[in-house]
Amino acid sequence: MVRVITVDGPSGAGKGTISRILAKKLGFHYLDSGALYRILGIAAQRHQVDTSNNKGLVTLAEHMDIRFDSSETGDIKALLEGEDITQEMRTEDTGALASLVASHPLVRSALLKRQRMFATEPGLIADGRDMGTIVFPDAVLKIYLTASIEERARRRYKELLAKGEDVSLRALEEQVRTRDDRDMSRDASPLVPAEDAIELDTSEQTIQEVTDTVLNLVVFKGLFNSSVK
Ligand code: DC
Repeated sequence: MVRVITVDGPSGAGKGTISRILAKKLGFHYLDSGALYRILGIAAQRHQVDTSNNKGLVTLAEHMDIRFDSSETGDIKALLEGEDITQEMRTEDTGALASLVASHPLVRSALLKRQRMFATEPGLIADGRDMGTIVFPDAVLKIYLTASIEERARRRYKELLAKGEDVSLRALEEQVRTRDDRDMSRDASPLVPAEDAIELDTSEQTIQEVTDTVLNLVVFKGLFNSSVK
């Protein structure tokens, strides 16, 4: 069976950064499942499908033409119907839209197969909200990353300032809180740690420290020898 390591948690906990570093170190594939929900949100807007239109969203989820390409710099580019939407995909507005479309159970089922297709040799790092609970319940290692709301909003604030965007820390905290509430309280695959997940609070930790902790777990579980560190 293909080795899958799941990394779940709320937005801003460091899932994406840690998952990409892990995938590179282990030579595994990387699934950014949030990107699928973000792209679906954008596709819905382009095709004027309302976020309450279950049927329309499911049809889009089943048929949307998406591709992930590596750019010259090694970054991953997202293409929807051939158009590069990488920048648009990363905005706070798209995050909120993704959280809305993700709350429909049938939309989630429609995206299950697409997500599971990423699990190919030599292995997969799957990043999201329900990777360890629903999509890959047999994963060999499940990590659940958390951090305080204040710290997660601060990280996002710094990221947006660096991009030259004019944002308010207070407004970002509010957005993070709203998205957490929706993702954690929905009926369909809410954000909860899997029973067998290892929880790590990254509030006071550097990226290097979190990466080292996870790599120690990978070695401890016998998934790789210590040379990977
Ligand atoms: O990880 P992200 O911020 O890119 O995710 C955007 C939204 O997509 C998130 O608020 C909830 C939804 N999502 C989800 O419901 N399940 C996943 N596995 C990944 C993301």
